[in-house]
Amino acid sequence: MTTSAFSTVELAPSDPILGLTELFKSDANPNKVNLGVGVYYDDAGSVPLLECVKSAEARVVGKQAARPYQPIDGNANYGKLVQALLFGAESDALAENRIITAQTLGGTGALRVGADFLKQVVGCSDVWISDPSWENHRGIFQNAGLKVNVYPYYDSNTGGIAFDQMVEQLKTLPKQSVVLLHACCHNPTGVDLNTEQWKIIAELIVEHALIPFLDIAYQGFGVSLDEDGFVVRLFTERCKNLIISNSFSKSFSLYGERIGGLSIVSSSAEEAKRVQSQLKRLIRTNYSNPPIYSGAVVETVLADSDLKSQWDTELGGMRERIKHMRLELSSNIAKLCPDVDFSFITRQQGMFSYSGLTREQVVRLREEYSIYAIESGRICVAALNSKNIGVVSEAIAKVIT
Ligand code: LMR
Repeated sequence: MTTSAFSTVELAPSDPILGLTELFKSDANPNKVNLGVGVYYDDAGSVPLLECVKSAEARVVGKQAARPYQPIDGNANYGKLVQALLFGAESDALAENRIITAQTLGGTGALRVGADFLKQVVGCSDVWISDPSWENHRGIFQNAGLKVNVYPYYDSNTGGIAFDQMVEQLKTLPKQSVVLLHACCHNPTGVDLNTEQWKIIAELIVEHALIPFLDIAYQGFGVSLDEDGFVVRLFTERCKNLIISNSFSKSFSLYGERIGGLSIVSSSAEEAKRVQSQLKRLIRTNYSNPPIYSGAVVETVLADSDLKSQWDTELGGMRERIKHMRLELSSNIAKLCPDVDFSFITRQQGMFSYSGLTREQVVRLREEYSIYAIESGRICVAALNSKNIGVVSEAIAKVIT
């Protein structure tokens, strides 16, 4: 008998976000609530299938089209529509053919291809992510071979941004360091830079020859599709080089379809062509080319003005419902614990709140009330609804007092 080649394989820790969903699913409590993963649920507690998506799907399926391989970087028309959404149809960089966009497997796929490009093609060695950042950022860049460092971001004393410290740290970075920034609706804190602060960061990035990598996974969940794209447009105007990963998982409620994009802004059309050729090489040796279906659905919505405006309205509905839940949670906590100020939650943007709950309090929520949150204290406000908000508020009130 030979020994198994895998006998020394160690058990990996479960994923802090998706692993929690597995735990949640195995919980028999009928009143359980999953505030862990970043998924939008409607007021009935279901992941919505948007009306604009239903109409687009009917058109896509109705075509009964054959399924040849896609180009390595995906559906070209999809890429153009994504560019218009991110950069604005009037963008100079677009007119100058300096931007290339690849259809990717969600925002995560875009981050990974972008990280591979930076490491293998550009020769970057270090990336700097915010402290804290999305749990998966570290793993993605590490697995691509980059050293992951952090810059100060969240100030737990004020619930705001540690802006001066962030600036001081970024000023010290060596040239060609990659700086990952959340373009809107910061994950996990829900705390974003303001317009003036973004301008300062953009200038600093240019002055210190850093490489900005903008992750925009929640466009439309902050203020509006247009306003949430401001940072992408600002950086495109100011910086010669820029990398952007975008996701439609949340904004189209297409989580399981893995649909996103990787856009790279270069300094000339000719440079962009070379960048594109390298991206195609990276993608070809990874997953060859992306699937047709999800790109075709998003393309159909973005290309049709009626469907696009329906999407905008549906997205606005999701955004407003989350804001309403923020207000309810804050006012419930104010009533239940008059000494605790939870109003910061109403000033945060997007799906998440860094609630200030300690690891111990999060564990109590899970073990005593079957309410699941990330151990960092991040809660997904988009999972609250008119039925569970009371139970969740009371449980939070109990563990924080
Ligand atoms: C999250 O932060 O919960 C989402 O972005 C889902 C994920 O893939 O982690």
